[in-house]
Amino acid sequence: MAGTPEDAKQAALSDAWGLVHGEAKRLEETGIGALFASDGERFDRLSATHEDLLVDFSKERLDEAALDALIRLAGTAGVEDRRAAMLAGQPVNLTEGRAVLHTALRAGPDARVLVDGEDVMPTVRAVLDRFLDFAEDVRSGTYRSASGNAFTDVVNIGIGGSDLGPAMAARALAPDADGPRLHFVSNVDGSHLADTLKRLDPKTTLFIVASKTFTTQETMTNARSARAWLEAALPADAGKHFAAVSTNLAATKAFGIDDARVFGFWDWVGGRYSVWSAIGLPLAIAIGADGFRAFLAGARDMDAHFASAPLRRNLPVLLALIGIWRRNALGLPTVALIPYDQRLDRFAAYVQQLDMESNGKRVTREGVPVTRATGPIIWGEPGTNAQHSFFQLLHQGTDVIPVDFIASASARDGLPGHQSLLLANCLAQARALAFGRSEEEVRKLMRAQGRSPAEIDKLAPHRTFPGNRPSTVILQSELNPFTLGRLIALFEHKVFVQGAIWNVNSYDQWGVELGKEFAGSLGPLVAGEASDTSGLDASTIGLLGYLSSSKD
Ligand code: F6P
Repeated sequence: MAGTPEDAKQAALSDAWGLVHGEAKRLEETGIGALFASDGERFDRLSATHEDLLVDFSKERLDEAALDALIRLAGTAGVEDRRAAMLAGQPVNLTEGRAVLHTALRAGPDARVLVDGEDVMPTVRAVLDRFLDFAEDVRSGTYRSASGNAFTDVVNIGIGGSDLGPAMAARALAPDADGPRLHFVSNVDGSHLADTLKRLDPKTTLFIVASKTFTTQETMTNARSARAWLEAALPADAGKHFAAVSTNLAATKAFGIDDARVFGFWDWVGGRYSVWSAIGLPLAIAIGADGFRAFLAGARDMDAHFASAPLRRNLPVLLALIGIWRRNALGLPTVALIPYDQRLDRFAAYVQQLDMESNGKRVTREGVPVTRATGPIIWGEPGTNAQHSFFQLLHQGTDVIPVDFIASASARDGLPGHQSLLLANCLAQARALAFGRSEEEVRKLMRAQGRSPAEIDKLAPHRTFPGNRPSTVILQSELNPFTLGRLIALFEHKVFVQGAIWNVNSYDQWGVELGKEFAGSLGPLVAGEASDTSGLDASTIGLLGYLSSSKD
């Protein structure tokens, strides 16, 4: 009996997944070393470039046949159709009935992007021009403090997507930053704001309250405390020291921020995809309008590549498929993201939100429990620091943890000799993870060093590296506004492709709601303003009891 088209699609998908798992089975006993030994052109076959960006995935535990199976999976899962739907402004965020159009924020001067039949680009360009003009006014001192001074410090108050993007990018682009000093306050822990304010002068400090909803508890609490701090010093003029970025213009007005310094964005921009919108204002204040436009141009360049390159040479698609291979075919749940670049020291935290808030999902787009593992656990720190902390476990621990390395060939403002050492370490780690050092080799080396047989027997097992630990190396020429924009967009699209293959909605985040709701009701109990604990579990009641008896 002939099935429905949906049945046929599911059958094709099941076959495609079956092929991928079949390839994993075939390669089960073949280590990375053997894969290199059997193919002298492995690097050429299993690496890809776009301009100066190189992705080398030859140290992954797969070969071309396995990659072909993954490409087929992407095709069968409808990645290309999904991509077209997202880029065309269709409401691909199904649970919220919204389009997903961060790409429109960096689209070119001639682009037209329709949402519900209306071209959003004129408004996007108008807001971009407005917030970049404001950024330049703050930088040049054209927009001045109430006391007539140029602002020396800008504090961004926001959390999650309203913090991580500009905070990460401002650190990454330190060589381009020639504006006022930037500070980022996100945590509702009062020490974050208090410690920041301690170093600042209210007379020359500008606050940006960044919140898509303008209701987020942490941000609004910090914004009110910042206003109180300003009002204590400038009772009549505190308002002049505030700007806001939000989609909720009624709330910014209610907070008392002059519309002239309020910069909007749209519900089709997810918080974790919003650094390209006015949420990037602090970055624009740091690096200037031209720098910010170059940042957008880098992302636009990656968008064009993502939209047009064949799947087999499409960098975000390849990164996504490597992730699918690691997660679903090899069963590896985590990824260490290690930039060999101190200025990318917040990059793992940024991608953590991007990836884990997008694909940390347990049901499909249709609301049915998924049958495969979805979003990986992303974590990481910059190299070489990471080598001296958790890399021991990566090399010799009982878990296999794939690594994504990121590095730039040239340093900007670097000191002589440092960059070569940094890069040598990056390549060395990828090599050591992949090829390890066998016990036989360890013994040979120790014999050559004149160690006694007893000593060799004792130490050889400890000094053996199993290897066969996968990694991908991403290299570019240098880190600058253009290449940073391109790098972020690479990861955004990688997350998109994985979400399409897992058939989850990458653009909602209901998982953060329950905790917010509980915090709302526990607040009065923790503050001692309420005492009714009925309905609470015994553990929470016990913890509340401890807190109330320990308060000074
Ligand atoms: O943590 C949930 C979340 O909604 C994120 O997605 C978002 O980036 C963050 O909170 C901040 O939200 P808002 O910009 O509305 O203050």
